[in-house]
Amino acid sequence: MRWTILTLFPEMFVPLKTSILGRASKAGKLQIEMVNFRDYTVDKHRKVDDHSYSPGAGLVLACQPIADCLKAIDPEHKAHRIFMTPAAPILSQDRVVELSHYEHIIVLCGHYEGVDQRVIDACFDEVISIGEYVLTGGEIPAMVLVDAVSRYVDGVINQDSLTMESYVDGKLEYPQYTRPRVWNGMAVPEVLFSGNHAAIQKWKDEASAAVTEKYRPKKK
Ligand code: ADE
Repeated sequence: MRWTILTLFPEMFVPLKTSILGRASKAGKLQIEMVNFRDYTVDKHRKVDDHSYSPGAGLVLACQPIADCLKAIDPEHKAHRIFMTPAAPILSQDRVVELSHYEHIIVLCGHYEGVDQRVIDACFDEVISIGEYVLTGGEIPAMVLVDAVSRYVDGVINQDSLTMESYVDGKLEYPQYTRPRVWNGMAVPEVLFSGNHAAIQKWKDEASAAVTEKYRPKKK
């Protein structure tokens, strides 16, 4: 799978070159490239933003550098194009799985007060928020998206990890334990040593239901 990140701060993307995603890139399972759309501005001072028409709203990223950058890297609009913004539907695990089926995704990271809406309407296919809070820019949200989606790309992680984890079947994952058997006076649940697979499965289902009820109670 190929990712192209449009950003004014390509140097922020070190995490995507590290650990699991770094290994997957080296193995050719992922291709992640950062493009600085400032390189496409026609402004002689290399400016990419201007004052908002809304009084007091600060600087807004202008259409021209972003539109020309897209024309250069995806002239026929073959890629799926996403703009990261808090003013958007919140990313869900179901959407993460769907997005993993695209061959090429372009992600635009906003900064400052936002991006001129006309370039979003004209050039992008989807807007995504990562949660109900505002960050200083779209770079960290873009990294969250790339990480969450890339896990579903063949060969990136052990596929068994994807079936027993939070959000699968709408439930959160049960707690995990490792050695020692007793730590700080707290013992690992006895059933996990029983060798009784049915009893262990029952414990996992009940523990998972309890965690889900505690942190994601059904709205009544
Ligand atoms: N940019 C700033 N905050 C954001 C958020 N919560 N989601 C996506 N993009 C953002």
